[in-house]
Amino acid sequence: MGSLQTNPPKLVREPLKKGISIDHLEYVDVTPIIGREYPTASLKEMLDAPNADEQLRDLAITICERGVVFFRAPQDDLSVDEQKHITDMLGKLTGRPAENGLHVHPLYNDPNNLPMADGTTDKHIYVINSEAQKKLYATMKDRPAATEPKDLGREWHSDSLFETCPSDFSFLRMQSTPPSGGDTLWVSGYEMYDRLSRPYQRFLESLTATCAQPVFKSACEKGGYSVMSPRGSPLNVDFEFAPQHPVVRTHPVTGWKSLFAGVGLHVSRIDEVTSYEDYMIREYVMRIITRNHDSIARMHWTRGACAIWSNVCTLHAATPDTHLVEGVRTGVRASGIGEVPYLDPASTGRREALGLPKF
Ligand SMILES: [Fe+2]
Repeated sequence: MGSLQTNPPKLVREPLKKGISIDHLEYVDVTPIIGREYPTASLKEMLDAPNADEQLRDLAITICERGVVFFRAPQDDLSVDEQKHITDMLGKLTGRPAENGLHVHPLYNDPNNLPMADGTTDKHIYVINSEAQKKLYATMKDRPAATEPKDLGREWHSDSLFETCPSDFSFLRMQSTPPSGGDTLWVSGYEMYDRLSRPYQRFLESLTATCAQPVFKSACEKGGYSVMSPRGSPLNVDFEFAPQHPVVRTHPVTGWKSLFAGVGLHVSRIDEVTSYEDYMIREYVMRIITRNHDSIARMHWTRGACAIWSNVCTLHAATPDTHLVEGVRTGVRASGIGEVPYLDPASTGRREALGLPKF
């Protein structure tokens, strides 16, 4: 008697397969689990190539598989408009909803919004500047002394989680760097999921998290200006900034499950559980991050270097230590807007999909 043949369940979206168009680029993987660094590649050359879209699509799939990529050689010849174009195309070429585009920061109308180096502002560009952060530190000196040692756990986040449709790709270019400090870290959401026991995977898959940022609404009301809307998607018009996202989501490009919204800067509460259970879940997720540093890629920034990452399958954390050194850290970031996050019950973890051992 023959055995009963069953087809594997079909995914909501078929994973994309990478081509060979960027295989000629020199690279080194940052760790076996996460990150890829291109020491010599030029994004400008990629854009100018006759098969630019093919190369950008293969780069996008690489980013979704590796979590984050670094371009180390200074990308000085790349304009801000080209940075925005690349960020937008990475999503467009990998099946993002057609009506979505680049994110617009809710507080773009704030008069303290930082300009770029040429003095202009752009609603699709978020400027990072350590001098502004130093001023922030100066105003914070009168706050009551901390009773606990410094805890940078809250730095971990995925971009624009406060939106109904959060960011898919983010592209940060560092224009100037201090002699040390200001590193950025990325942790693999795929690996965090894979390191859970099966019962705990099932438990976290049953949860959603509310990702509230009430500060945007209150800042606008206090400053007397309006919140930007829409913000990269017709669905990102809500002024409450409190969407509920799945704690575990499926990456639409790879089809792999990722621990997405269990902890960090934008997660205000795990839904439906008690406050102590909320605390336990967050502590547990934070413990997975801090006790599995082989799942983390760390970027020591050099002038002109770039990082492009998938917010679907990584969390990242800035290192706020540049106030300790002289020198300004300035960067410009563009972010795309992806789909409403979903968990596809037919999807699997990365290790299972690739046939890798569990640990
Ligand atoms: Fe960020």
